[in-house]
Amino acid sequence: MASALLNLNLRCSRTLRACISEERSHGMPTVKNNMAISDSQVSDNPPLVSALKASANQKVSSFHFPGHNRGRAAPSSLTRLIGVQPFLHDLPELPLDSLFAPEGPILGAQKQAAKLFGAKETWFLVGGTTCGIQASIMATCSPGDTLILPRNSHISAFSAMVLSGVVPKYIIPEYDFDWDIACGITPSQVEKAINELDTEGRKASAVLITSPTYHGICSDLEEICRLFNPQGNIINRERICQCLQTLQSTSPSYLLLASLDAARAQISKKLETIFNKPVEIAMEAKSLIEKIPGIRFFNSSTFEL
Ligand SMILES: Cc1ncc(COP(=O)(O)O)c(C=O)c1O
Repeated sequence: MASALLNLNLRCSRTLRACISEERSHGMPTVKNNMAISDSQVSDNPPLVSALKASANQKVSSFHFPGHNRGRAAPSSLTRLIGVQPFLHDLPELPLDSLFAPEGPILGAQKQAAKLFGAKETWFLVGGTTCGIQASIMATCSPGDTLILPRNSHISAFSAMVLSGVVPKYIIPEYDFDWDIACGITPSQVEKAINELDTEGRKASAVLITSPTYHGICSDLEEICRLFNPQGNIINRERICQCLQTLQSTSPSYLLLASLDAARAQISKKLETIFNKPVEIAMEAKSLIEKIPGIRFFNSSTFEL
């Protein structure tokens, strides 16, 4: 499913207006279409899952998107494959809430996600991480601005530059031919890019780093942030909202949104164990595999950034 989260704990170089002061009635019970959502209520019950359940249980005809009318007109090739239940729950955000101006269960769910991730604010994305990366770049750079980024960035970073008219300043990551993988980005590489731009009389508006990389290599983000954005300026929240609105569907599927909420609830319930167990199993597998002649693992000391 192409859903993802965008957490606001990003930083940028310029003083785009601080984003903290504009929070809506957080903490207050919210009533939307006869559904009251309060913090105490939602902590046990994922707000979007509850709202989806309530809506799917209504015996009503739909005159809105999607056109399969709660599964009644769903294509049989698909109902034979996945049944009718997914269609019954495949509702757009309306009449439940609005992704672009959430006041009900979407706001409640996003608030809980932000709390879990320790972010000031979290936005649910129905366009995947691609849409979050595009919005982040568009919200920090204006047409003609410069973005510092690794040459091997995800394709979403390149499409974001096309969409926003941003000019790249590439960093070429070191390549480890022994392991046949690209390394992360070091603070000194970022510093070099900043200095090179400086000699040309240019200044980057943002730095984009993927950390960890696909192969698990982490960059020293704290030091990179300190170098690039010593004032600790935070991205303008309204600009992020506008960019996401430009990029996302006005009829996001509630199934996608509810999947984010359900995943957040799953993690919250077992915060201590949900990641520890797989790591434990992975470490056990690693110690067994390591005994096989000819196989070696890379570990943190292999890649000192
Ligand atoms: C670093 C990075 N950026 C962007 C994306 C794009 O995510 P999505 O496919 O959800 O749009 C991915 C997905 O693998 C990714 O790993």
